[in-house]
Amino acid sequence: MAVLPYPKTAVGKAKAMQANTPVSFSYPDADSPCVAIKMGQRVAGGVGPDGDIVAYSNLCTHMGCPLMYDPATQRFKCPCHYSMFDPEKSGQMICGQATEDLPQIQLEYDPASDSVRAVAVTGLIYGRQANVL
Ligand code: FES
Repeated sequence: MAVLPYPKTAVGKAKAMQANTPVSFSYPDADSPCVAIKMGQRVAGGVGPDGDIVAYSNLCTHMGCPLMYDPATQRFKCPCHYSMFDPEKSGQMICGQATEDLPQIQLEYDPASDSVRAVAVTGLIYGRQANVL
């Protein structure tokens, strides 16, 4: 199986991240907006000292609209046709027009430097035939 040449991209320092506050970054290139969130409770696939930091593509899988993170419900919501995605469940599509889950950005954490880095993507970013162009 071919391994895509994903870059390693700095997302930020884990201890500087506030719970439930999105941190924007781009991955795997400048044309792919993403958001990292410290959920405030340990989640599957979460990294960092508390195992609660996850990240996703911020483009809706329906037609590519930028998503909004709603801190009250801890869900990504699409303002275009109201799809919703759950960042605590690997980006699972909850309802709406989308038929695909939100692509999850794979993260790694280096305790020595407190750095969170993006290292790969699970799922296909909206509008692409491959995540790494
Ligand atoms: Fe998000 Fe249509 S673009 S639901």
